[in-house]
Amino acid sequence: MPSSIHQAVLVEETMLVLNVRPGGWYVDGTLGGATHTQELLRRSAPTGRVLSLDVDPKALERAQDHLTSESERWSGVEGNFRQMAELAHARKFFPVDGVLLDLGFSSDELADRQKGLSFLENGSLDMRFGPKANEDGLTAADIVNSWPHNDLEKMLRNFGEERYAGRIASAIIEARQVSRIVGTLDLTAVVKKAVPASYEHGRIHPATRTFQALRIAVNDELEALKQAIDGAREILKPGGRIAIISFHSLEDRIVKHAFRSAEDLEIITKKPMTPSLQELIHNPRARSAKLRAATKK
Ligand SMILES: C[S@@+](CC[C@H](N)C(=O)[O-])C[C@H]1O[C@@H](n2cnc3c(N)ncnc32)[C@H](O)[C@@H]1O
Repeated sequence: MPSSIHQAVLVEETMLVLNVRPGGWYVDGTLGGATHTQELLRRSAPTGRVLSLDVDPKALERAQDHLTSESERWSGVEGNFRQMAELAHARKFFPVDGVLLDLGFSSDELADRQKGLSFLENGSLDMRFGPKANEDGLTAADIVNSWPHNDLEKMLRNFGEERYAGRIASAIIEARQVSRIVGTLDLTAVVKKAVPASYEHGRIHPATRTFQALRIAVNDELEALKQAIDGAREILKPGGRIAIISFHSLEDRIVKHAFRSAEDLEIITKKPMTPSLQELIHNPRARSAKLRAATKK
């Protein structure tokens, strides 16, 4: 398996808010390219331990290739972070000193045409991060080819904050009556045709919000995030920390409200931390990253 091309964001800031220290136990709920996991292992050495989860089996394969020397202190598990508490309990990996979630997808996944996460390259309209991303095997192709207009519109509005949700839903239905929509570029073309020309010259690509909405729906991302925060609260020891990096306002809002309403959490980051100018210059993908952290009372 070739090594990861993903560039992790806010690594130093995350380690700081998690207060990573020698001997600590940490759960990385989103292994991805494993940079955060490796940093957790380094800073918790020589006896600290890390349990890393990812729904994408390819992320685990990649990490296993270069974390073999850490086999005593590291476990990688293919699993959904919504089941973090069960997965940790099953491995007697609790109570823990810190939990990290770095949400969304990695650059490796974006480049994977079988996943079909990119609206710029041809791929199959799947969008699941991995086989365990949802329970019923729902794919983006299933959604665009079978959901009624109302449900499509609601999904585009709620998960994509797409102002042309109604027009795009109508265009999807019209297109699928001619032939099944199977490729990412087929969907991109449908969206482009449905929105006003001015939208095409806007700040973001006209298909950005449609793809975001489908991805969130397929992976049930918002519910998974809420469950992961509950799971983390269950396995954290008093004084343990939780850190979450989000990339869009829907996720950030959930994290902010969940931290505020949890009686057993004390917020560390009154305002979310964002990447430094230096990081933004080296990694433009970091521009929308927001880090929030809290301590378990
Ligand atoms: C932004 S990447 C993480 C990058 C990582 N922190 C690093 O250092 O490279 C997000 C990862 O989370 C995984 N993921 C997304 N939703 C998940 C879920 N519900 N459960 C477990 N992993 C998930 C994705 O498959 C992806 O590999």
